[in-house]
Amino acid sequence: MDAVRVNLKGRGYEIFVGPDLLRQSGDMIRPLALGRRLALVTHPVLVETHGYAPALAASLRDAGHEVSVVTVPPGEESKSLDQAACLCRELVRVGLDRGSAILALGGGVIGDLAGFVAATLFRGISFINLPTTLLAQVDSSIGGKTGVNLPEGKNLVGTFYQPRLVLADVLTLKTLPAREFRSGLAEVVKHAMIADAELFGTLERDADRVLARDAEVLQGIVAKNCAIKARIVEQDERETGVRAVLNFGHTVGHAVEAALGYGAVTHGEAVAYGMLVATALSVRRGLCPRADAARLAALLRRFALVPAAPPSPELLEKYMVRDKKTRDGVLQFVLTPGVGNVTVAPVSDRNDLWEALHNWQAYI
Ligand SMILES: NC(=O)c1ccc[n+]([C@@H]2O[C@H](COP(=O)([O-])OP(=O)(O)OC[C@H]3O[C@@H](n4cnc5c(N)ncnc54)[C@H](O)[C@@H]3O)[C@@H](O)[C@H]2O)c1
Ligand SMILES: [Zn+2]
Repeated sequence: MDAVRVNLKGRGYEIFVGPDLLRQSGDMIRPLALGRRLALVTHPVLVETHGYAPALAASLRDAGHEVSVVTVPPGEESKSLDQAACLCRELVRVGLDRGSAILALGGGVIGDLAGFVAATLFRGISFINLPTTLLAQVDSSIGGKTGVNLPEGKNLVGTFYQPRLVLADVLTLKTLPAREFRSGLAEVVKHAMIADAELFGTLERDADRVLARDAEVLQGIVAKNCAIKARIVEQDERETGVRAVLNFGHTVGHAVEAALGYGAVTHGEAVAYGMLVATALSVRRGLCPRADAARLAALLRRFALVPAAPPSPELLEKYMVRDKKTRDGVLQFVLTPGVGNVTVAPVSDRNDLWEALHNWQAYI
């Protein structure tokens, strides 16, 4: 098992990464001295098909807790104020009180929704995250962002609310649909690209074992990613500065998702394309060696993450202008000086971006 500490003043917590943690969870939460009653929020498939919720609940009951299992339907639509209200009411009905805790078992949807409810129910109760998707283990479970969507846009209502503990059981990744798994790999590549050249080398070397979901390799990779994100979050808990580097590939990525319609590409495919454009722009500006750009493209291809039919540059530019990452009307872009490094720079020359969008392949 690996342990990663997230150091935040008064709100620090531990992330444990390893195999079979669900079955050990009762013992692992003991030091938190939580109240007797716990609520486990998850999806039906993780109860019935994969048996993760029953295994977790059994371990918690063995540790003396009363456990209610509450399910919400899968899908981004569950990240809504309506669903949050349903969940709050159900949790009150099953007898949760201010001393209780909510445990989120699932991907980013469950983590964001249950975390938001934990932050607001009774003005905030203990929250424990048990991420079961690769994206959730390496990204969404770290950093304390919780929230729900509005019809007007994603993640518009939410809070920063840190969990008391994160348990990432890498064995759960075995049952993740292949496309979801690969989507999570895009964030892994992103973390390596912005912060850790050694991790990038590991991914290149162990790509086959990663794709075969070798538990030992995944444990090392997930723990490394947690540490990378934790170190960035520690410097900027509420995203007012340096945390922006985590948006590498996301300015164009979000535009790709919006232009094609959510669901047409995975988040990972969209971000992969965004990283290629951002890297092409970095090469064009003389910031990034072409060889590093070629390594990124090769790794993303290896993970089948390069979308076959990205939207037209005209359409992408339209969506990017609406992006909130502008300062005084100038787009702030996360660029890379090479594998393992990152920098944020204004892109005021429209031609630069235009050229990168049209001709990214020429720079890679
Ligand atoms: N809070 C943050 O900092 C943060 C960061 C990135 C993304 N997010 C959010 O995360 C969400 C996406 O999360 P996601 O990619 O994990 O998707 P998800 O939560 O929708 O999970 C994907 C699917 O996989 C299923 N699933 C989960 N674990 C499984 C397992 N082990 N085996 C089989 N099936 C399993 C789920 O039921 C679901 O249908 C988005 O809403 C996004 O906004 C939040
Ligand atoms: Zn992302």
